[in-house]
Amino acid sequence: MNPKEFAARRKRLMHLMGAEAIAILPTAPERTRNRDVDHPYRPDSDFYYLTGFPEPEAVAVLMPGRPQGEFILFCRERDPLMETWHGRRAGLDGARERHGADDAFPISDIDEILPGLLENRARVFYTMGLSAEFDRKVVEWLNRLRQQSRAGIHTPGEFVALDHYLHDMRLYKSRGEIAVMRKAAQITARAHRRAMQTCRPGMAEFQIEAEILHQFMSEGARSPSYPSIVAGGDNGCILHYTENSDVLNDGDLLLIDAGCELECYAADITRTFPVNGRFSAAQRAVYDIVHEANLAAIEEVKPGNHWNQPHEAAVRVLTTGLVKLGLLKGRVPKLVKDEAYKRFYMHRTGHWLGMDVHDVGDYKVGGEWRVLEPGMVLTIEPGLYIPLGSKGVAKKWQGIGIRVEDDVLVTASGHEVLTRDAPKSADDIEAVMT
Ligand code: GLY
Ligand code: MN
Ligand code: MN
Repeated sequence: MNPKEFAARRKRLMHLMGAEAIAILPTAPERTRNRDVDHPYRPDSDFYYLTGFPEPEAVAVLMPGRPQGEFILFCRERDPLMETWHGRRAGLDGARERHGADDAFPISDIDEILPGLLENRARVFYTMGLSAEFDRKVVEWLNRLRQQSRAGIHTPGEFVALDHYLHDMRLYKSRGEIAVMRKAAQITARAHRRAMQTCRPGMAEFQIEAEILHQFMSEGARSPSYPSIVAGGDNGCILHYTENSDVLNDGDLLLIDAGCELECYAADITRTFPVNGRFSAAQRAVYDIVHEANLAAIEEVKPGNHWNQPHEAAVRVLTTGLVKLGLLKGRVPKLVKDEAYKRFYMHRTGHWLGMDVHDVGDYKVGGEWRVLEPGMVLTIEPGLYIPLGSKGVAKKWQGIGIRVEDDVLVTASGHEVLTRDAPKSADDIEAVMT
C-alpha cells in the first residue's frame, strides 16, 4: 500500500474528529501460543489501517492541529542485541522516515508523555473494551493529568467511540485496497483450483489443506485469513469444521472454505466438489440449487439495493429447490415466511469483507438494512447442509454439505466478482478435475 494512502486516511479521520480532539490507538499485543513460543504476529486492523506499521508494542496518537505534528507514534527503539535475536525494528527514525510519523517516542516512555498530550484536548477518541489493560492505562493517564491540573489546564471531558468513525471509513474500499483484495482473491482462487486438481479418494483432508496453504505461501500470502475448513462428506455439514483429519472417500463431496490474507486483507472462498471428480446425480441436484442461489444473490449486489436483498434472493432459490427435491413440502412463500429452510440453511448469505474476514461496518442504519454503495465488499455464500441421520430425509441426500462462496465488490454499475477465477459450475469443476 502506498504510504500516502495511510496519510490520507489519518487526515480524513482527523477531519471527522475536529479540533481539540485526540485519538489513541494501540496495536495488538503479541500472544503466547505455548511456553516461550508466540503466535505469528498480526497487527490490530484499525491501527494498521491508519499507520501501516507492522511491529508489536506500538501506539498511534492523532492530534488534529498540533503545531509540532499531528501523528505521533510510540514504538520500540532500535536495539542491536534484541534485533539479533528477534528481528529488525524500525526504531524512532524509521517511524518518522518510513511510516510518516511527525514525532516518535519510545513505547517505554508512554506513561510519562501521554498525560501531557491529553492536556487541553476536549475529546478523546478511543475504542473502549478491547483490552482491559489498555483501558486501565488510559484512565490512569487521565487521572494523572487531573491530579496535576493547575489553573488553565483542561482535562478531556468527553470520550468518543473511535471505532464508530473508523469502521465506517473501512467499509468503503479505496482503489488501493481493491487492488490488494483482488490479488488476494486471485491467489485464493488458484489455491482452490489446485485443490480440485490434486484431490483423489484416499487422501487425507490435511493433505488438501497443505495444497491450499502451499499456493497461498508460494504467492507471498504467508497466512490464511481464518483457519481453513477442509471437510469431506458429512464433515461438510459442520459449519466451522477445522480438524481436517479425516480420509476423503470415493463418492463423497469435499467442502473447502479457505482464503489467504495479503497485506492484512482477507479473501474468503468456499467451493464444494466431488472427491472423485464426478458429481453423483443426487449431489449435482443439490449443488445446482446452491449454485443458482449464489448467482441469484450476486445479481442483487448493486448500488441502491439494501444489504438483505442478496440473502432474500438466496433464500427464495434454496427454498424452491428444497421443495423440488422433496425435502420441504408446501408453498414457497409460506415456507420462506416460516423460515422452514433454516433446517438445511441455518446461516446468513454473507458478511462485509476487508482487513478482517468478518469485516467491520454496520449492517443496519437507523434500524433499516444498509443500502449498498460502490466500494463495499461482501461475501455471497449460500449453502445447504443435510447431515447423516437427518430424520425423514431420503438416504441419498444424507451426508451432503454444500456451500458456494464468492467475494463481491459493489461497483458504480453493479458488481465485480473478485473470486471469479475459482471454478464454480458443476460442469466447470468436473472439467478442471479431469
Ligand atoms: N470463512 C468464514 C466465513 O465464511 O464466514
Ligand atoms: Mn464468509
Ligand atoms: Mn468462508
